[in-house]
This record gives sequence, C-alpha cells and structure tokens, in this order.
Amino acid sequence: MTATAHSPAPVLCGLGTWLPPHVVTNEDLSRELDTSDEWIRSRTGIGRRHVVQPGEATSDLAVEAGRRALKSAGLDTVDMVIVATTTPDRQCPATAPLVASRLGLGTVPAFDVGAVCTGFLYALATAAGFLAAGTARTVLVVGADTYSTILDPADRSARAIFGDGAGAVVVRAGRADEPGAFGPVELASDGSGCDLIMVPSGGSRDPFRAATAQQADPFFRMQGKKVFRSAVERMAQSSLTVAERFGWSVDDIDLLVAHQANIRIMHGVADSVGLPRSRCHVHLDRVGNTAAASIPLALADAVESGRLTPGARVLTTAFGGGLTWGAAALRWPDISPA
Ligand code: COA
Repeated sequence: MTATAHSPAPVLCGLGTWLPPHVVTNEDLSRELDTSDEWIRSRTGIGRRHVVQPGEATSDLAVEAGRRALKSAGLDTVDMVIVATTTPDRQCPATAPLVASRLGLGTVPAFDVGAVCTGFLYALATAAGFLAAGTARTVLVVGADTYSTILDPADRSARAIFGDGAGAVVVRAGRADEPGAFGPVELASDGSGCDLIMVPSGGSRDPFRAATAQQADPFFRMQGKKVFRSAVERMAQSSLTVAERFGWSVDDIDLLVAHQANIRIMHGVADSVGLPRSRCHVHLDRVGNTAAASIPLALADAVESGRLTPGARVLTTAFGGGLTWGAAALRWPDISPA
C-alpha cells in the first residue's frame, strides 16, 4: 500500500529542554588540562558546555525536559515514555520508569533505548512503531545524557567535546499531511566498529570484580579521528536517503539540524549533501556534544533563535557509538518549546 497525504503518521507536537545550570568554559578546562580556548574552538567549534554537579543525575535532567515537553504539547499525560541515554542513573534498572513516575504519569510503559549519540532518533523511530501499532496514542521521547559522569578527568579530547543536557518531544498519532509528521526514520548500524566508541569495563565483557578492579577502565573512550570520517560519510548518506524518501531535493531543505558532534563534522555533512553551510544549525558552541540530547536541544535553539519556523523543511541526522546512525525529516509544526 502506498502512503498518501492522509496516511497515518507520527506527529511531533511538543518540545522541551533542560540544561544543568553549571557552565564549564574552555578557559576553565585550560586551567585544569593541557589545552586552550583556541585549540578547542578551532578543532570543535565549542566554547562552553553545561555539566552536572554531584547529586544531579540523568533522570533529573530528563524529568525537567519531559515536564517542559508535556507543557509545550498542552498535555498532562502520555501513554508511554522512552528515554534515550548512554548514561542511565544506574546500570540497572532503566531510567525511563523513574522519569515516568516522577512526572506523575502513573504506570505507563517506560523503557530506555541505547544507541549512544543516535539514541534520540532510535527512540523517535521506536515511538513511531508503537503509534503505528495502536499500542499508544501519545509518547514522550526524551534524550538525556550526562557524559561528564563517564569521562576520564585527564582526557582532554573528550572533555573538550562533551556536555550534559536533556531534550524531549511529545509525539502523537496523526496524518502524513500534518505539519510535524515525520517518518519513516532512517536507521542503520555497523557493530564491526563497536571499539571506536566505548566504555571498556563495567559490562559483561569486562565486569568489575574486586580482584581486577585495578585494571578496569570505567571511562568513555573514543578514537576521534576514525569516528570523524565515518560520521561525515554516514550522516550525509542517511540525510540524502531521507530527503529522497520525502521527495525533497537538496534545495528544498531549509535547515539541517545535525547531531552536534563537532562543527567540522557538521560542515562536512552539509558539504557532502551539497547544502550551503549557512543552512546547518549550530548550537554546540554553547553546549558541546550532548549525545542523545543534542538533536532536541538544537531544534529548540533553532526555534528560539527564529531559524526554524512553522512549515520549514527540517532534516535531522545523527551518528554515534555502536556504530549507529540515522536521519529523519519533517515540516516544522507550530509549537513553542518550553
Ligand atoms: N587540547 C589540545 N590538544 C588536544 C586536545 C585538546 N583538548 N585534544 C586532543 N589534542 C591533541 C592530541 O593529543 C593530538 O596530539 P599529538 O599529535 O601530540 O598526539 C593532537 O591534538 C591531534 O589529535 P587528533 O585526535 O588527531 O585531533 P583531531 O583534529 O582529530 O580532533 C577530535 C580531535 C576528538 C576533536 C576530533 O577527532 C573529533 O571531533 N572527532 C569526533 C568526535 C565526536 O564528536 N564523537 C562523538 C560521537 S559522534
């Protein structure tokens, strides 16, 4: 059956964000590590990032963003909560049930999705599947991460890049011709690259045991250069696939909201797709790479800065550990981020 304008489709209808108040500038980092504002800005485009303080966890950020997304959608409740995160409050249990409970959503189904920096798109696609199956009419999708809690304090490369934050959207069952309709979301993975981005210890491959605790490496590790090349290629590929599926030419894309990994990666994607760099929205200068939170945070920033207006054709794409990547496209709905 061919999809028509009236076909059922998932529709984005609310957006909320939250950043922890504490800010770490490049100057702050250079007082602690062998780095400089000049190096970080020229290699990444990042000027500062928000970082949680002791006592603040991923669920705290997710709850604030979720509350705001519900307000933006004008809803008190939803049928399901999905949290995309690589930094759950604890390895067990998932973070989503706690978020649902703290939002007062009762006993709704709630679970986490782990696809690292592509997590938000994977969660969005998962929500779309539940809406299509009729299992839910509304879903709260949250991307929340606190990478500062898993970074090696001595790793100047990772500490320059990552920031903490949360962004959330509400999606509902609707029609393909409505503003906000998205999907199908393009998703892909390549597990042969799983070593490029990982936390080596603490999982079943290298569990913490008292006898080996000294050798364990509990920190996030990334082979930046290899990730860089793969990220540009894969995000560009997914973006073109999604644009074609929507019947959009590259010229039709009003704004590219790519995962905010590194300004050079984002510009590389724009160049590969054939889109002017000026149509690539940049938010990472103020927040860094916030992993699963990066796309909803950047979307909200684009709306607040007047770059994303109702009806605009927006394309989002992400790449992350796994390896995983994907893209989604939509006509922007008339919503106010909260
Ligand atoms: N300050 C100063 N020097 C730094 C530094 C910092 N914060 N971080 C790394 N360096 C140094 C390295 O130690 C290396 O020094 P050496 O040549 O003496 O060994 C040098 O800079 C070049 O390092 P390299 O890793 O080749 O730099 P790069 O241009 O590839 O930039 C990243 C490093 C991490 C910024 C870049 O690879 C990147 O952004 N990768 C993608 C990461 C990402 O976004 N991943 C998220 C998942 S999508």
